[in-house]
Amino acid sequence: MFITFEGIDGSGKSTQIEKLRNRLEEKGAHVDVYRDPGGPVVSEQIRQILLNPDFEIDPVTELLLFSAARSQLMAENVLPGLKEDKVVILDRFFDSTTAYQGYGRESISLQEIHKLNAIASHKRQPDLTIYMKLSLTDAKKRMAKTKDRMELAGDVFFEKVIKGYNELAAREDRFFTVDATESVSKVHDQIWQHINRKYSS
Ligand code: TMP
Repeated sequence: MFITFEGIDGSGKSTQIEKLRNRLEEKGAHVDVYRDPGGPVVSEQIRQILLNPDFEIDPVTELLLFSAARSQLMAENVLPGLKEDKVVILDRFFDSTTAYQGYGRESISLQEIHKLNAIASHKRQPDLTIYMKLSLTDAKKRMAKTKDRMELAGDVFFEKVIKGYNELAAREDRFFTVDATESVSKVHDQIWQHINRKYSS
């Protein structure tokens, strides 16, 4: 099973991923968790470049670097894990590219991003995408004081990213949207119930 988590910074993805991992492991599942961009050494190094606030990166270069990091993560970790019947959970995936580089940066057309996402993911779609929905106002209350290069992008950018996520979530059946302002345990219960409904039949 391939599960991805999406949402803007501060939406609580990491906390929910850890809770889900623990719950699945209690049930006997083998679970691997990775962050995108990240995972293999190559992808972690690309991540350092992407998030470094000292670098000015052209929007198309940024798009290709996120895609390159993802391709390596798929090849080295995600695809082998899925082949071994593990549950693979990713903190972000290609929907982040659609939201941030597509809607946010408007780097290239959404159709072109869609094609690039298919290439970088080695044509593997998530079975389920959990979208932790949060307004920019609420996200700002939770954002870290030290900002990485992406977090420095400004309000107009983040409003476009949120619009992108909302449109994707409305369009794609694999999305399950939760209200990220709810308590940690309530959000976790909703996610767990959804997974059980989806996979118990
Ligand atoms: P995070 O792993 O701490 O969430 O940081 C990754 C940052 O990179 C975050 O601001 C979202 C951004 N990002 C993109 O802009 N495009 C992408 O494709 C991905 C995966 C992340």
